Formats: sequence, C-alpha cells, structure tokens
Amino acid sequence: MASGMKILFLNGPNLNLLGQREPGVYGSTTLPEVEAKVRARATQLKVGVEFRQSNLEGELVTWIQQARGNFDVIVLNAAAYTHTSIALRDAISSVGIPTIEIHLSNIHAREDFRHRSLIAPVCQGQITGFGPYSYILAVEASVNVNETQDSPRKQGKSS
Ligand code: DQA
Repeated sequence: MASGMKILFLNGPNLNLLGQREPGVYGSTTLPEVEAKVRARATQLKVGVEFRQSNLEGELVTWIQQARGNFDVIVLNAAAYTHTSIALRDAISSVGIPTIEIHLSNIHAREDFRHRSLIAPVCQGQITGFGPYSYILAVEASVNVNETQDSPRKQGKSS
C-alpha cells in the first residue's frame, strides 16, 4: 500500500536549464514540466512528492541528510556530480534511505567519463536513458522498493 509514503526527488546542477540546455541530448521538456508529470503519476499512486533542484553539491548533501525520518525513498538525478562526487555517495550511504539513481540520457551510450557513476554502488538501482519518462519509472520503482523493504522512516512508525 503506497498511501502515506513520501518520495524526495533531487536534481543536480544544470537541470534547471532543461528545455534550453542541449535539447538534442536532453529534449525540450522543462524541469517544471517534468515535475508536473511526476506529480500526476504520484497522485495516481497516492504517494507524496517533494521536488528540488540545486547547482550546489553541499546543498544536495544536506538535503540527503535531512531526508532521514522524513522520506521513504530518494530519487536522485545527480547530473554531473554522478561522475565526481564521493560526498554524495557518502551521504547516501550514511542515511540508509533507499535511493534510486536516474538520468534523462543514457549515460552508458555517451562519453567515457559519463560511464562511471560513483553513486551507483550505493543506490538501489539505476534508470537511465528514457528522457522525462525516467522520472515516471522512478516513481513506480520507488513504490515497489518501499513495498519490498523497510526504510528507517517506516521502522520509526508505530503502525
Ligand atoms: C544527466 C547525465 C549527466 O552525465 C549529465 O552531467 C547531466 C544530466 C542526465 O540526466 O542525463 O547533467 O544526469
């Protein structure tokens, strides 16, 4: 039963420019439009969603830390920090909240430096290459993950 569960969507650097930024790679859908699609699917599945974007690595780390006790699943498009950030990887490991890595583009079909994800080993799984639909798949994967394992937030609940 997904009712009552909460998903935190975090978007990393340059994703605020979606729609204008390299449309041949990332498409013409803006981030607010992606958020609207996510909210529509989340409403159908009766799950709560918080949707944020930051260009700052430390702010993303802080949001991951603060998710403890407040969210059941984190969906993270870490953008370029995917390939560089030990800090984000450590934050995910530290909070112990199931985290799903997502990307609009297929990072494995692009430049070599995008093939390596530093966060992948500490994430539940990776969704990559479906454009804005990666975000919808992530809502569905989050519900499945939440139903099949206990998160710290669920363990803290009395019912
Ligand atoms: C991205 C892929 C990353 O390699 C890139 O740095 C991004 C966006 C994606 O959604 O396809 O900024 O995470």
